[in-house]
Amino acid sequence: EKAGFEHFMMKEIHEQPKAIKDTLGSVVKDGKIDLSNVGLAKEDIENISQIHIVACGSAWHVGMVAQYVIEDLARIPVRVELASEFRYRNPIIDKDALVIIISQSGETADSLAALREAKSRGIKTLSIVNVVGSSIAREADNVFYTLAGPEISVATTKAYSTQLIASYILAIEFAMVRGQINQEQYDGFLSELSELPDKIQKIIDDKERLQWFASKQANAKDIFFVGRGIDYAISLEGSLKLKEISYIHSEAYAAGELKHGTISLIEDGTLVIGVLTQNGLYEKTISNMVECKSRGAYLMGLTTYGNYNIEDTVEFATYIPKTDEHFAASLAVIPLQLLAYYVSVAKGLDVDKPRNLAKSVTVE
Ligand code: M6R
Repeated sequence: EKAGFEHFMMKEIHEQPKAIKDTLGSVVKDGKIDLSNVGLAKEDIENISQIHIVACGSAWHVGMVAQYVIEDLARIPVRVELASEFRYRNPIIDKDALVIIISQSGETADSLAALREAKSRGIKTLSIVNVVGSSIAREADNVFYTLAGPEISVATTKAYSTQLIASYILAIEFAMVRGQINQEQYDGFLSELSELPDKIQKIIDDKERLQWFASKQANAKDIFFVGRGIDYAISLEGSLKLKEISYIHSEAYAAGELKHGTISLIEDGTLVIGVLTQNGLYEKTISNMVECKSRGAYLMGLTTYGNYNIEDTVEFATYIPKTDEHFAASLAVIPLQLLAYYVSVAKGLDVDKPRNLAKSVTVE
């Protein structure tokens, strides 16, 4: 059932190109986005005044990426919230808002409660869900199914990746319907998305170097991830993946925020991983990494092919293919999934079933 892989997580990492192709194929037909299965009409999209994305864990990290992409492309204000906070906050939600709930299982208790809270106020809801017929899928006004297939490993990989795709599709469609992008941009974005599966495959094919690097981190006490903008959102996911299955303490920081406290934790040999996929922010994040280095940190950089001068700064560099920067999370997360996986294996841990965790959190 593991198709020759040692763990479900590795199998599911390898299934990502197909999961993305399937999810794209369900909503893009003849070069055009078709949301008729989701049920969102053009008038609904035109009327959205603001978006609240509500989720837990990795699904919340998808929301963090989606916030940057939707705001930048469609120019609709987006707020991303943890379901466990949203439901007890008496949130202010505009009557023309759209509440988007993201959930692999469709059964996460807090996400379901947040959905019910929005519905009870008469707010339009859309869920992005993987498990067909789950509670969140059934109860939301509209459902965007991710076609990741069953995900067994507690640490999510392919569900996360397909949730990103769903978010990009919504961002592009909202942008087009609301006149924020032209036909050429729309076509360009869809063609970039169609190239993601092959680019992910290339990263996976190159996994040995990451395995080697990961095996040297088995004794690490703390690992920090830093980035700005979308790179910060990717850092959050990289950090959660690592701590979840390797039990190494890790934190993700918006790179500019480090010097407001956290940098005091940097000691000789602490690993700091910089995520640098956004060219406009590259120099800024590099300078934050250099600040860590001068306090003893050991640096890894994750950036796009071409940025080879990163090797002047970091001890270990890993590269991802170029894509439109809005979609870079889909590529950058792959080496971070592999890193977490290989550290967990190097420590001899139970990769698929980490201690204290359940696949689906159905209690609040
Ligand atoms: O089923 P859901 O997507 O609602 O689950 C949300 C989180 O529990 C989940 O993403 C969790 O953080 C993962 N184990 C992370 O890998």
